[in-house]
Amino acid sequence: MPKLIIDDIPLDVPEGTNVLEAARSIGITIPHFCWHPALGKAGACRACAVKMLEGPVKGVQMSCMLPVQDGMVVSTTDREAVALRRAVIEWLMINHPHDCPVCDEGGECQLQDFTVAGGHGIRRYDGLKRTHVNQYLGEYIEHEMNRCIQCYRCVRFYQEYAGGTDFGVMGRSGSVYFGRQQDGQLQSPFSGNLADICPTGVFTDKTARFRARYWDYDMAPSVCPGCSLGCNTVPMARYRELLKTTARRNDAVNGWFICDRGRFSNSAVNAPERPRQARVDGEAVGMDVALDAVMERLAEFFDVHGPEGLAIVGSPRMSQEAAVMAARLREVTGAGTLCYFGDAANSAGTSEAVALLDLDNAASQEDVRRADLVVLLECTLLGEAPMMALAVRQAWRNGAKVYLVGPEAPSGPVQGTAQRQSGAEPLPFEFERVAALADVPVSEATRPVVICGGGQKGLDDVRSAASGAKLAFILDGPNAFGCALLAGEQGAIPFSEALGGGRIKGIITLEADLPSGLPPEIRVLAAADWVPTHLLERAEVVLPVTSWVEMDGTYINNEGRAQRFKQVMRPGSPIKGAVPEQHPPRIHRHDAPGGDILPSWRIVSELLERLGGERSEQACFSGKWKMLESLDSESGGIMVCERKQ
Ligand code: FES
Repeated sequence: MPKLIIDDIPLDVPEGTNVLEAARSIGITIPHFCWHPALGKAGACRACAVKMLEGPVKGVQMSCMLPVQDGMVVSTTDREAVALRRAVIEWLMINHPHDCPVCDEGGECQLQDFTVAGGHGIRRYDGLKRTHVNQYLGEYIEHEMNRCIQCYRCVRFYQEYAGGTDFGVMGRSGSVYFGRQQDGQLQSPFSGNLADICPTGVFTDKTARFRARYWDYDMAPSVCPGCSLGCNTVPMARYRELLKTTARRNDAVNGWFICDRGRFSNSAVNAPERPRQARVDGEAVGMDVALDAVMERLAEFFDVHGPEGLAIVGSPRMSQEAAVMAARLREVTGAGTLCYFGDAANSAGTSEAVALLDLDNAASQEDVRRADLVVLLECTLLGEAPMMALAVRQAWRNGAKVYLVGPEAPSGPVQGTAQRQSGAEPLPFEFERVAALADVPVSEATRPVVICGGGQKGLDDVRSAASGAKLAFILDGPNAFGCALLAGEQGAIPFSEALGGGRIKGIITLEADLPSGLPPEIRVLAAADWVPTHLLERAEVVLPVTSWVEMDGTYINNEGRAQRFKQVMRPGSPIKGAVPEQHPPRIHRHDAPGGDILPSWRIVSELLERLGGERSEQACFSGKWKMLESLDSESGGIMVCERKQ
């Protein structure tokens, strides 16, 4: 590890670290625009000057371009370096519109911060500014080219990192232009990252435009529920409306980025049709009345059918807290059936995958990015888990060979952004198609990873042909891993199997996704959900629950990593769109209108209390799940699968 001194602080850093990163590692921030941890250096902005006082390199240098060498003595405060940084920033700002008061990036703008930090406060240039015509880039990203400082981050991300081909850099000299050949929707399923990665306001999130300043947002560390990968996010809300979602760095999981499905799927949380009112037989009631009604229905149901006729039905959409409490409810009521999965094949596939994974062979997204051979088994990656496709692309860019096994189409429309996808999107990497896993030279690779999609049936050949490879499974839901573990522990069975047995006479559902052909003779005694499913239409008691941004909770992702997400906003109907009768409330109340809702686990806790148990302010983790109690949302998560050898 090379040793150096920065501003009189001695340190040693890993080989390959540049001076800018080394300074960051000890809390010294040098202004920078083009360098980004995930994209590396470009040397485009010239804002990161430092003075090299001693060592193999001397004089004023760009810190992002300089790999650390033994014996370097660096000054970030040297007058010559500071003067150059100030001059460069002043020059970068010459054509900038200085529209901070009306710019949607204001408050979260790196250019704003580093302009001030770099010492350029007074504008001296009074000439004409270069201006551009902006483009329509679709419904998600707003374009404002006049703010551009030509750092090239956008095009480096879009083309090199994400493999997009419909966006690039055009022009020359002082009038380079970052955009498309013509107006039109950005095609990359990762285009939303432009808003995060642009250090100024050229690309902003159109869906939240002019709704709030950075400091106005309610925000908290969270985890995306869009698929099973568990990418880390920061959702941002204001006035009980989820306005936007940004990526949160987790080096083992999503790195610095998220996909557009995770970023632009806020509307379900804000939807006017979302259930927010408890109902008994269609009549609006308070939550306490509804919970009492569930108890009455249960007593009456048990008199007729006994507890064995009851099924408690959840799904991998539930947090682990809710899944654990569902098992507790089954135990206390004596219900005959507990289900976490609707479909038998999905349940079996998930359980088999979870049983196969351990601490040694479970592949994180980082393992995929670092792999030297990747096998895709029955995957439609862009449809099932877009960020996994981005991880495979990084492996491929670093020289990994990618094999696709099976006849299935390797791509598919990205859910949630279907309106802009004309059909199957091409995967952002090259691959070789083979007939069987046995045809892939897995044993010749040093860091092979096999990725199994939801279409993979039976894992016997994976076990044998991929020995020595790390494994990644794309599961069905943000907490499918946790539900599969609990299903094994609690003897839960898939709902389709339980239905076949004919013993189910009534169900209580918690965020369950069941097919619409539920036999009419089965009573839906109660249904708890925040998504307006068909079960809510049939339920005798409707119990609205909080979405993931309105509560704390835990998801266990596809590799077995438990990650805590925090409450971002208080539940309640968004103020925007509220009719005058609803806002402001005319009667004093502690909860917001539409806010008389509870997390699913809390609904169960309330029922357990009515059944004679203790009131619990937390989901009661016990046994192996006890370790989740102290899980920190900013810890990067903890692995719940165990080492098998
Ligand atoms: Fe070093 Fe841009 S950050 S040149």
